[in-house]
Amino acid sequence: MAIHDSHHGHAHAPLKFPKGFLWGTATSAHQVEGGNDYNDWWAWEEGAGHVKNDDMSGKAADHYNRFREDFGIAKKMGSRLHRLSIEWSRIEKEPGKFDRAALKHYHEVFDALRKKNIKIMLTLHHFTNPLWFTERGGWMSRRAPHYFARFVKKMAREYGKKIDFWITINEPNVYAANGFLRGVWPPQKKSIFAYLRVIHNLARAHRRAYRIIHASQKNAQVGIAHNVFSIESYQWWKLSSFLKMKLLNHVWNHHFFSLSRGTHDFIGINYYFHTRIRKSGLFSIKTIDAREEHREGSDLGWEIYPLGIFQAIMNMRQYNLPLYITENGVAAENDDRRCRFLVAHIKEVYHAIQAKADVRGYCYWSLIDNFEWDKGFTPRFGLVEIDYSHDYARRPRPSAHVYARICKENGIHHDLLRFMGHGASTKDLP
Ligand code: BGC
Repeated sequence: MAIHDSHHGHAHAPLKFPKGFLWGTATSAHQVEGGNDYNDWWAWEEGAGHVKNDDMSGKAADHYNRFREDFGIAKKMGSRLHRLSIEWSRIEKEPGKFDRAALKHYHEVFDALRKKNIKIMLTLHHFTNPLWFTERGGWMSRRAPHYFARFVKKMAREYGKKIDFWITINEPNVYAANGFLRGVWPPQKKSIFAYLRVIHNLARAHRRAYRIIHASQKNAQVGIAHNVFSIESYQWWKLSSFLKMKLLNHVWNHHFFSLSRGTHDFIGINYYFHTRIRKSGLFSIKTIDAREEHREGSDLGWEIYPLGIFQAIMNMRQYNLPLYITENGVAAENDDRRCRFLVAHIKEVYHAIQAKADVRGYCYWSLIDNFEWDKGFTPRFGLVEIDYSHDYARRPRPSAHVYARICKENGIHHDLLRFMGHGASTKDLP
């Protein structure tokens, strides 16, 4: 790596982030807590063949009981921000009735983080719904925003003072596409009309939630976590190709924002995907699976494309709002890959900041291994390994140490850059 070689040997990180940059990690309730048996995902997992290997979330990572230990690890890593979600179905098991024990539990969770001086980014909806809500039509129903608003009102009153950032809805585009268009998640609908209806209802719900939270906390910071992909076309010089890229970009990256203008205090970016359009006829778009070109991918086959996070950030810059990377991570059994992934992606975030993007924080997905929806427990996203067969023991991986250095040094030190450039193994780390 030829970057800043003149600084070689300096104690300070050559790629320094702005002062106060919030380094953090992320999780979501259903994926880590365990025992969420009142939601639609739990019910769906019971169906044969729905989840890979017929895995069931079950105890997940047992985070419901071990959150203190997990936050202890995050703190030790130098994390200053933690993104987590609250499980609606635990709190409102029956419509309109709020469960005291569950409410108390989340007070304890937030207090544990605050005591450690870790800022809290709370997601109110992360893919799961109470069973009673889906029985009343779920997100297809016109009443959905009304039910969600009742829950949000309670959350804002109950926890308002403790929360630093609110994420109303996680990835409306992914939720609607997987559940209502591709049919791979509950309720397994496959209809463009269902997809559009759900996106509209989610946008209505977000707008109401935004107002409710602001009514109770004037200075609240409210936004969404949005799945943003980067796009390239192999025939970019063709007008048809350009128009298709523009269309895809609108549908995936911007549609939700166009339905919810003026109700975002910041933008949360979840970056995982780079899309390559091989060919684009008048009515068709052919994308490439990176494996066809023998590119490096994650264990799920998703291409590892660090430049994409730079492009996603520059794309979202147009809203002139503060930006947070609310998720970025890789499924990798091979932790060397995760180490390289971290350095390479965070380096691109650094470059985006140099290009004047107002990025204020970064959350790695995920703090701990967890239940990866329809893919079950096989994909390993954690900086910390969960040993499911040995009492859910927590074992920080070498990547947790690499990330800890980045958090503590507020940037990427020379030796980490060199390590990445040489593609060496973590064993060579100084
Ligand atoms: C979701 C997470 C998920 C991650 C990896 C994001 O789309 O918000 O829940 O685990 O991607 O697939």
